[in-house]
Amino acid sequence: MSKIKALRGMKDLLPDEIWKWQLVENSIKKIMQAYAYKEIRTPLLESTKLFARSIGDSTDIVNKEMYTFLDKGEDFISLRPEGTAGVARAVIEHNLTYKGAQKLFYLANMFRYERPQKGRYRQFYQFGVEVLGLDSPAFDAEIIFLSRKLWQDLNIENDLKLELNTLGSSAERANFRLALKDYLSKYENELDADSKARLTTNPLRILDSKDAKTQEILTQAPVLFDFLGANSRADFDHLCEILQLSGVEFVLNTKLVRGLDYYNKSVFEWTTDKLGSQNAILGGGRYDGLLELLGGKPTPAVGFAMGIERLILLLETLDKFKAQAGKKVILLADENFSAQALNLAESLRSSSSAYSLDLILGGSIRSQLKKADKLGADAVLIYAEQEVAKKVVLCKFLRKNIEQVSLNLNDIENYLTQNFGD
Ligand code: HAM
Repeated sequence: MSKIKALRGMKDLLPDEIWKWQLVENSIKKIMQAYAYKEIRTPLLESTKLFARSIGDSTDIVNKEMYTFLDKGEDFISLRPEGTAGVARAVIEHNLTYKGAQKLFYLANMFRYERPQKGRYRQFYQFGVEVLGLDSPAFDAEIIFLSRKLWQDLNIENDLKLELNTLGSSAERANFRLALKDYLSKYENELDADSKARLTTNPLRILDSKDAKTQEILTQAPVLFDFLGANSRADFDHLCEILQLSGVEFVLNTKLVRGLDYYNKSVFEWTTDKLGSQNAILGGGRYDGLLELLGGKPTPAVGFAMGIERLILLLETLDKFKAQAGKKVILLADENFSAQALNLAESLRSSSSAYSLDLILGGSIRSQLKKADKLGADAVLIYAEQEVAKKVVLCKFLRKNIEQVSLNLNDIENYLTQNFGD
């Protein structure tokens, strides 16, 4: 019978790689705790209307990439392509900002029907934060700080670049849109096909075009920055000032518009030059108008989301996991002494956090060693008949040039910790 495979663009996270995810997730949770952000979990499925209204009818995400279907009640529902819309809906529905501002985060899977390639999948995971009810640019800065903290924690601070822009208010943007459209219409026939179509649907996204000719035309185009009012300018200057004061380097990218319609004022992305075309690891910005647009009270908000697959790809590319891989020890014991072996394993497990301990029972020492090697053990503890009688173990490192030694049971813990910690 033919085998059934996972859907295109959807990946299994297998036992041998899941530790990398856990490492990243633990780091994220630690930082969220330190910054006093609380977790929120919203449903995977939402009404299609929610995404159309918040992300925007004319965006690629809503137009081309959503998994949308009719449920049995004949309602259009969609798998969430991102997390902000669902969080905004939940905040309104449960009146969460009633008690004051909310600082929230999520670690959740998202779905976009995109053409899969390295760093781009149809099911992917995001870590996102959303701050609701606070309008000071200080909080734009705070979420940038906490993303920088994550890079520092993972030792990739120098491999990411922060790009920053401001989109102004919706009125300022509308004026700019008109001017941009006016200018680009003169070159309509020279634009790439996507940009030509966007001239009527979403002219701002043309700034994102990767086409060389379009980019050449754009060099003389009006710049959004020139359309900003005093308030937008002041907020942006304030944000830049805070970042400069705290030593966060950034580049101003006036073409950064992001692919979702809900943004206003500051937008930003952390990008890398190590992953080819899928170079944005994290993106976000302010979305002060979204909650009102969804029927809530006017509520300023700012947030970001990071692609976990992309972060892990980056960490792998930079070989950052090597030093972090957990150590594995395997106790090799005789079936006849399983009680003693389990007893020893229990006491080692309760005293150590420096390694994980597995157990192989039965078989010759030779075959046990082979199995342990296949299972990726860093060291083995041999606890056969003779050793049990003498109350010792033989400790052998499989991936290091260290002589095999005989250890008293009380000395195992110290010896392993010392030799793992080089
Ligand atoms: P986004 O830029 O669409 O923003 O996605 C954020 C991040 O998710 C991207 O930078 C990328 O790392 C990852 N990502 C997006 N699509 C894929 C994909 N197909 N495969 C793998 N990774 C992907 C948002 O989603 C906004 N909700 C961010 C936000 C939160 N803004 C305010 N609050």
